[in-house]
Amino acid sequence: MTDFLDIHTTSAADLRAMIDSARAMKTARKGRPKGTADDDLPLAGHMVALIFEKPSTRTRVSFDVGVRQMGGQTMVLSGKEMQLGHGETIADTARVLSRYVDLIMIRTFEEQTLLEMAEHATVPVINGLTNRTHPCQIMADVMTYEEHRGAIKGKKVVWCGDGNNVAASFLHAAGQFGFDFTFTGPQTLDPEAEWIGFARENGVRVTVERDPAKAVLDADLVVTDTWVSMHDPESAKERRHNQLRGYQVNEALMAHAKPDALFMHCLPAHRNDEVTSAVMDGPHSVVFDEAENRLHAQKAIMRWCLGV
Ligand code: CP
Ligand code: NVA
Repeated sequence: MTDFLDIHTTSAADLRAMIDSARAMKTARKGRPKGTADDDLPLAGHMVALIFEKPSTRTRVSFDVGVRQMGGQTMVLSGKEMQLGHGETIADTARVLSRYVDLIMIRTFEEQTLLEMAEHATVPVINGLTNRTHPCQIMADVMTYEEHRGAIKGKKVVWCGDGNNVAASFLHAAGQFGFDFTFTGPQTLDPEAEWIGFARENGVRVTVERDPAKAVLDADLVVTDTWVSMHDPESAKERRHNQLRGYQVNEALMAHAKPDALFMHCLPAHRNDEVTSAVMDGPHSVVFDEAENRLHAQKAIMRWCLGV
C-alpha cells in the first residue's frame, strides 16, 4: 500500500514501471467500448473515493472510468458538501473514510491538506492536484510523449508562461525521467526556487530564458497552461494577462522549435490566450492524447498504490 503524492517522492524505477503498465493496459483494451471491463479486473472488490475541492472534468471522469474498467466502484465527493467543508478536520475525515474505502484521490488547494490526508488515512492517497503540483497529469504527459516520439530521456522540454503547479511536476519529472527543462516566462511567475533546485540537484539541465523565441529554439516539446490557475485570485487576472501576453504559444513561436516538436497543454485551455487555436488544432498538438492518457496512466498509478 503506497501513496502517490508527487513525482519527486516516488522512485524513478516505480514511475517507469507505471508508464510501462499504463501503455500495456491501453494496448490490451484498444478498440473496446469504454464501458467494458478489463480482462483481469485488478480493482474488483475495491471502493475508491474521489474528493474534489476544486472543479474538474478530466481528473473526475478519467479516475471514475478507470476504476470501473478495473472492476472497482467509485464515489465522487465534493469537498463543500462533506463535513470537511464545515469544520471537520482532515485527519478525522481521513480516519473515517479509511473505514469505508480502499483508496482516496483528492484534489485540493493547500498541499498540507493532501499531506494530512495521507498521514492519517490507512489507505493509499493520490494527489489529484494541489496549488503546488499535479503529478498525475505529468505521468500522462510523459506517456504521451513517449508514445509519439520514443524515450523522453535527453529531450528538451520548454515550459512557456506561468511557472505553476503543472510546471512544478514537470520539473520533478525532469529529474526522474532525465530530460532537460527550460522555463520561459516573466520573473514574477518563475517556478518555485525549491523545485528548480531539486531538479538541478538531480542532474537536470534547467534553463531560465526570458525571451520565448530563444527558449523554444530546438525544443522537442513545448508546453503551456492557463495563465490563471484555479487557486489564483480573480483580481490577478488582468495583471497576469498583461505579463504573459508575450509568452503565448502560437505558430510563429512553434516555428523556432524542432520541426517534429510536440505541443502539450493539460487543459482546460483558454484558446487564443496562452495558446492559439492554430497550434491547439495543428500538427504539433497532442493535447487530446494527453487527456486520454490520464485514464491509462491513473489506472497504472492506482494499481501501484494498491499493489494489485
Ligand atoms: N488537466 C486536468 O487536470 O483537467 P481537469 O481540471 O478537468 O481535471
Ligand atoms: N494550473 C491549472 C491546472 C488545471 C488542470 C490549475 O491549477 O488551475
